[in-house]
Amino acid sequence: MTHVRFLTAGGALAAEADAPPGSNLLDLAQSLGLPLEGTCEGAMACSTCHVILPPELFRALPPPGDHEEDMLDFTAHVTATSRLACQVMIPADPAEISIQLPPGHQDMRGR
Ligand code: FES
Repeated sequence: MTHVRFLTAGGALAAEADAPPGSNLLDLAQSLGLPLEGTCEGAMACSTCHVILPPELFRALPPPGDHEEDMLDFTAHVTATSRLACQVMIPADPAEISIQLPPGHQDMRGR
């Protein structure tokens, strides 16, 4: 299992859980009640699943495809390590990862 932490844009812990490697990052976020809408259900047509990865994790994952990069070009608050969570599979290594929600997402637990 990989331990996944989701952080608010301000760095506070929004949610955390253990997830099997190879499972989908957006599915996990939604199962935890995080405000990643995933409106297009993974078709790379909405960018409501935008997340920001730490640089080490970004480099460790398979790179985004052209379509994902095109979609990110139209997404607010994009950084050099932004990804669409619907396209990210949780890795086995590293065994602990932290995923940042972009500004504009509210922490539903009010922290
Ligand atoms: Fe729409 Fe990821 S769910 S781009």
